[in-house]
Amino acid sequence: MVRTASRKMAAVANAPAPAPAGPPDVAVEHLTHVYETANGAVKALDDIDFEVPQGKFVGIVGPSGCGKSSLLLMLAGLLQPSEGRIVVREHALTAPRPADVGVVFQEASLLPWKTALENVEFPLKLRGTARAERRDRALELLELVGLADFRDRLPHELSGGMRQRVSIARGFSQDPKILLMDEPFAALDEQTRLTLGDELLKIWTRHQKTVIFVTHSLTEAVYLCDEVLVMSHRPGRIIDRVTIPLERPRTYEMMATETFGHLRERIWRSIRTT
Ligand SMILES: Nc1ncnc2c1ncn2[C@@H]1O[C@H](COP(=O)(O)OP(=O)(O)OP(=O)(O)O)[C@@H](O)[C@H]1O
Ligand SMILES: [Mg+2]
Repeated sequence: MVRTASRKMAAVANAPAPAPAGPPDVAVEHLTHVYETANGAVKALDDIDFEVPQGKFVGIVGPSGCGKSSLLLMLAGLLQPSEGRIVVREHALTAPRPADVGVVFQEASLLPWKTALENVEFPLKLRGTARAERRDRALELLELVGLADFRDRLPHELSGGMRQRVSIARGFSQDPKILLMDEPFAALDEQTRLTLGDELLKIWTRHQKTVIFVTHSLTEAVYLCDEVLVMSHRPGRIIDRVTIPLERPRTYEMMATETFGHLRERIWRSIRTT
């Protein structure tokens, strides 16, 4: 009897997540982007199509220069597509929607005259959060990224990796429904990278966010994501969509499993053949 019950529970834990109700949080339709430069036109993205259902964690991988950052800038409403359109939470995107969409850029982009703490507080201040509350929240987030002792330092007094961690904390403090992250952990050591990945998963689960995550690390992509989109060389097209069926919560032990290895291998093969 007990054995039957526990077998049933294991089956439930392994079952695919139920299909999300409602429209996708992000829909990208026939998106193409061409940069006009003094030396001619550079086609960065070519006919990109995908949807991100509410609450999903989607990764984007692809060779350097294939247009990943350009795609994220467009999803943030900071760059206009040459063709196609983006729909965010049922609104055709024509300008940034900071309440819905937050961004952690590839390069830390902090306000240089504000301290680490003030930078993390800034999105909360813009939202009108009371001073004491925003200070507490910002401190909590700086603690999370291991920088509580550096709260009063200006960005130029921090290392590149530290600045990036402040940037990540600021992305979290913004608390948007949709979080766009462009190689957020690239400048970090392996251990910090794994720890912050787990923290990101906790925040994602607890606050039911939708995450679009660009990375060059295939291990990170498989470990974090529900689905990984693989892009070709420039002009970037989506050449593979890999569903990651690993159950959640993810654990480090999973990285040593055959399934994990196969998934990583499949993504690697797709990238190599672009
Ligand atoms: N502002 C710009 N003006 C002209 N060309 C640009 C501009 N930004 C990017 N590009 C070009 O568009 C292409 C895609 O760039 P993008 O930064 O989106 O690539 P990426 O996939 O993010 O690369 P990486 O993995 O190195 O970060 C590249 O060929 C790049 O040179
Ligand atoms: Mg980039």
